[in-house]
Amino acid sequence: MAQKIIIDTDPGQDDAVAILVALASEELDVIGITAVAGNVPLSLTEVNARKICELVKRPDIRVFAGCDRPMRRPLVTAENVHGKTGLDGPRLPPPTMTLQSLHAVDFIVQSLLEHDAQSLTLCALGPLTNIAQAMDQEPRIIPRIQQIILMGGANFERGNVTPAAEFNIYVDPHAADIVFSSGASVTVMPLDVTHQALTSPERIQAFRTIGNRAGSVVADWASFFERFDTAKYGMEGAPLHDPCVIAYLLEPSLFAGKQVNVEIETESNLTMGFTVVDWWNVTKRKANAMFINKVDAPRYFDLITQHVAKL
Ligand code: RIB
Ligand code: CA
Repeated sequence: MAQKIIIDTDPGQDDAVAILVALASEELDVIGITAVAGNVPLSLTEVNARKICELVKRPDIRVFAGCDRPMRRPLVTAENVHGKTGLDGPRLPPPTMTLQSLHAVDFIVQSLLEHDAQSLTLCALGPLTNIAQAMDQEPRIIPRIQQIILMGGANFERGNVTPAAEFNIYVDPHAADIVFSSGASVTVMPLDVTHQALTSPERIQAFRTIGNRAGSVVADWASFFERFDTAKYGMEGAPLHDPCVIAYLLEPSLFAGKQVNVEIETESNLTMGFTVVDWWNVTKRKANAMFINKVDAPRYFDLITQHVAKL
């Protein structure tokens, strides 16, 4: 039986690759994609989500628009990384598939109430606004969530949007605080692990030589996405962050981490959105997250390539 998932996302080229891997897998049943404001405004993330589905001829996938701003803070976006559209690189036609009229938060709540308890996994690739709003709106969903796998945060790695904070957590730290303190089963893919999953000319070429449309678009996205991060970090490639969430579901043995306590800074302007990770358990606070810090990068890229080749 395929694992039922909801992908909550702010596409974003890396989100797009994650969505394609999920749609390619027979092991996953994507019951819906919920768009959130993040890399670019919601008006673009919801369009991008539909463009990605239509790229691989999946207009049957239900796409919902969610929150257009964080719970308390003003929206911060990342056009400098992802381009004006959020999916710069290859030009994709405007979507023709319809956007669902139901609000994404209501879809998350209704799905969790209607499906068997502990049968639905939430894959969060952007700021956690939609998921936190759903928990606030209907706390009964929390024990019904099978697990939340999210890309966000950083521990031994420094922040990528401020010296202290990773972008997804920084944009909506109050939402992150709700999710991390909810009691739900949370697995975190932080910069500590995504910075080991770097694109390279060979890895991008492997996408391109797949020979299908999806492979060439993924190669173009990776090339566009890479130009910013290589300049910023001086790395030889760009971290392909969000597909780590889907890859963990498909092949958990690629990853390793540790159950730790994670708290979110929501007061200090200097360190807003900092994930305070008690890696050495010095506070004795209860562990609330599996914090991943290792990935087998070659096998990770092989998994992405193998799945994109099926599209
Ligand atoms: O910090 C990286 C994260 O922020 C990724 O999810 C990327 O898509 C952006 O949302
Ligand atoms: Ca994202």
